[in-house]
Amino acid sequence: MPQRIDLCKTSDVDEGTAIKVETGDLVLAVFNLNGAFYTMDDLCSHGPGSLSEGPICDDVVECDFHNGSFNIKTGEVVDPPCMIPQKTYPTKVDGDTVYIEV
Ligand code: FES
Repeated sequence: MPQRIDLCKTSDVDEGTAIKVETGDLVLAVFNLNGAFYTMDDLCSHGPGSLSEGPICDDVVECDFHNGSFNIKTGEVVDPPCMIPQKTYPTKVDGDTVYIEV
């Protein structure tokens, strides 16, 4: 049975931005792309970069540590030096609450 984890309110994340959410053992980046919400691990798969702090262009987030980048919707690598896709979490909205199920 999946466990629902509430992350934030929809109003907490402006369009075209991300916030960092820590819950349990997870440290997550929650993105708002044109009103749709996406979640991935905040810690870059390449190193110590925090993806919630990286610039966003369309559906790509750049890690500001070594400038690799990932597709926000899929977690796939867009630009090196990143090699390992970012773990993503299907993200849903219930009323004004953004949540994932793990
Ligand atoms: S830590 Fe993110 S690109 Fe290196």
